[in-house]
Formats: sequence, structure tokens, C-alpha cells
Amino acid sequence: MKIAVGSDHGGFVYKQLIIDFLRKIGQEIEDVGCYSTDSVDYPNQADKVCEKVHNGECERGILICGTGIGMSIAANRHDGIRAALCHEAFTARMSREHNNANVLCIGERVLGQEIALDVVGTWVETEFAGGRHQRRLDLMAETRS
Ligand code: RB5
Repeated sequence: MKIAVGSDHGGFVYKQLIIDFLRKIGQEIEDVGCYSTDSVDYPNQADKVCEKVHNGECERGILICGTGIGMSIAANRHDGIRAALCHEAFTARMSREHNNANVLCIGERVLGQEIALDVVGTWVETEFAGGRHQRRLDLMAETRS
């Protein structure tokens, strides 16, 4: 699976960690930056990842900032993006099974490294359950247009 990964300065260290982890488990990565801990604005980084998911270049996206909150707010403003801010594996799994989340948001200042990688691994490996959950996603798509 091709995954776009982006962060601001507050998520830069975990972005590198997450990219290494995902490559080790065989995922293809598009790194949209940032590329250092110099300050950048998270909405611009969210735009880069969401654009790649929306246009089909990448199947899913992962965004990391200090808390994950700014990234999730910014990502969910995009059409076709269902971004989930997850702090542990249970919500990561449910965000895939029930919500078909196509963008995962993580807070570097919130999670320890092992928990963050557990969240990412669970989220990447979990499939959407469909059925009644698809009907609910369709309802949200309708109310947006
Ligand atoms: C940057 O200091 C911080 O505000 C950002 O990474 C994020 O936590 C915003 O939601």
C-alpha cells in the first residue's frame, strides 16, 4: 500500500520513526515533509497529504504534529478525507473497521514511541468492515454536497 506521511516540526521525529517502521513492514511511502525541526505550519502539511489521498496517488495518509489535534482539524476540512486522531490501538482499529478512516493523526507530544508504532501498525493492517458502516459514511457524504 502507498501511504503519504507528513508532519510539522512538532511531529518530525516521529515521522522519521514511523516511515522507517512502515518501510520495514513493506509499505511504500511518500514523504511530504517537513524535513527538519524548523517551524512550519501544520495546515500546509495536512494539505499535502490529503491532496495525495484525495487524488488517488496514495491510498492512505498519516499526519503527525505535537498533539495530532491541529492535523485532524485541518485534514477533515478536505473532501473525501476521513481523518482519525488515535491515541491507542483500539481506536486505531475501530477507525478503520467502522469509519474507514483514510488518514491517521498522531500526537508526538502525547504518545510514547512504542504506543505510536502500535497505533500505526494496527491502523495500517486493519480493513474496513463495510455493511452498515458504509451506509453511515454515505449519509455523511450526502450531507456535505
Ligand atoms: C506546534 O507547536 C503545535 O501547535 C502543533 O504541532 C500541533 O500540536 C497543533 O495542533
